[in-house]
Amino acid sequence: MDPIRTLDEAAAAAPEMVDAASTLDELEQAETALLGRSSAVGEVRRAMGDVDASRRPAVGSKLHEVTAHIERLLAAKRNDLGRAEEERRLAEERIDVTLESVVFPRGALHPIQQTIDEVVDIFVSLGYRVASGPEAELGWYNFDALNTPPTHPSRLESDTMYLDWGDPRDEVLLRTQTSPVQARWMEANDPPVYIVVPGRTYRTDTIDATHLPVFHQIEGLAVDTDIVFGDLKGTLLHFAREFFGPRTTVRLRPSFFPFTEPSAELDVSCFACEGGEPGCRVCGGAGWLEMLGCGMVDPHVLETGGYDSTRLSGFAFGMGPERLTMVRHGIASMRHFIDNDLRFLGQFG
Ligand code: DAH
Repeated sequence: MDPIRTLDEAAAAAPEMVDAASTLDELEQAETALLGRSSAVGEVRRAMGDVDASRRPAVGSKLHEVTAHIERLLAAKRNDLGRAEEERRLAEERIDVTLESVVFPRGALHPIQQTIDEVVDIFVSLGYRVASGPEAELGWYNFDALNTPPTHPSRLESDTMYLDWGDPRDEVLLRTQTSPVQARWMEANDPPVYIVVPGRTYRTDTIDATHLPVFHQIEGLAVDTDIVFGDLKGTLLHFAREFFGPRTTVRLRPSFFPFTEPSAELDVSCFACEGGEPGCRVCGGAGWLEMLGCGMVDPHVLETGGYDSTRLSGFAFGMGPERLTMVRHGIASMRHFIDNDLRFLGQFG
């Protein structure tokens, strides 16, 4: 067999074989078939030693030429296939960056909790501490220790939920106010006292726009050696301005609570109309919003708590975060707070 002819034939067959490959794998197979050990070219290469010395340079240079030719074909094809492969991969793995990503909805605290946190923060930054007490409370702390006589109407079963009824000393009820923590704190701690008490409270009320049987209160108590009524007003004015805005003013109206003397209701000026708009959507034109109950701690309550009322005085207040939240956000009904409707709750993120 003439090696020159073999090589010419191999060179002639190469373009078709290279072209037939449609993947890089197939091209590798074509390369083996064209240049591998057992290919025609490979056989010529192996047999070079047997070629007659006079023909060796011609066969050698032909071998070199044909190998180079086939290698060029292979390289060109590899380039083409590589590019095609890359294009295919790019198309396949294409990410549409304009596509909306999966958005995980972000949760939020309940609006009542947000109000509680905000109020507590205002008092904590004045140096108050946060206290708490049991929701299942003794009648003694909820009423008697707070100067509330056994005959007081709020002690009736129609107003208070009892867990165990009987002698006030061991009668157990769901606390109707956070005020019992005043008595508990004084019993367990020495003066001075500067505490706020956020917590859940219970009354036998039917659910309507302004009542919930389970609701919240934030109690405040300050007892020290020289606390006067002006401290109460100044403290609550500061609170009102922090919560409703710096232009807020307050007024105190005489009221009654068994555990404070004197007692007052605190009104804040309407933050929406600032006291001047007939038919205002927030205050209805009154210019004032009823906000909380407060007063100077009755000396008898101090004594019951084990404090010397000739040396100490104090003020207390109690507010409802439900009401604060409704007024601030213009919420018409308390029912919204317990409906668990995300269309409502989602507005307080
Ligand atoms: N505990 C009262 C209530 O539930 C609110 C209250 C009024 C608390 C006056 C106080 C206070 O500490 O001084 O209506």
